[in-house]
Amino acid sequence: SGKITLTMIKPDAVQNGHIGNILADITNAGFKIKAMKLTQLSRRDAELFYAVHKERPFFGELVDFMISGPIVAAVLEKDNAIEEFRNLIGATNPQEAAEGTIRQKYAESIAANAIHGSDSDENAEIEAAFHFSTREVY
Ligand code: CMP
Repeated sequence: SGKITLTMIKPDAVQNGHIGNILADITNAGFKIKAMKLTQLSRRDAELFYAVHKERPFFGELVDFMISGPIVAAVLEKDNAIEEFRNLIGATNPQEAAEGTIRQKYAESIAANAIHGSDSDENAEIEAAFHFSTREVY
């Protein structure tokens, strides 16, 4: 399986001061940071990033939330990165997230759920290219 995933520390977790603790959890779990930036998505950016969800009833809420403040975007490397990272962050709904996962510790709700992780190797490549040029990935 693939070696990279794309994460975003979402606006709730940035606003609540969790960037440092979340990055510590990520690096302590053996992920290497290949690219990283603090940025804020435009409405157009968020609609493109989440285009796969555009028919979902929560699409408007998702876009409004993701543009509500700065995020940290990062490309992470580890063997079997997609599955390993999804295990680290926990279930989408923080009320269902396992003890010790990032969402269990830091998320507020299913919308304000602290962190994103790519769901496939193919999407990790697409999402990394969305946020970073090849020159920005080390
Ligand atoms: P993520 O899996 O990173 O990407 C899609 C996001 O949509 C998901 O995180 C949630 O934050 C959000 N989402 C999923 N279901 C709902 C919902 N029912 N209401 C609001 N947001 C949701």
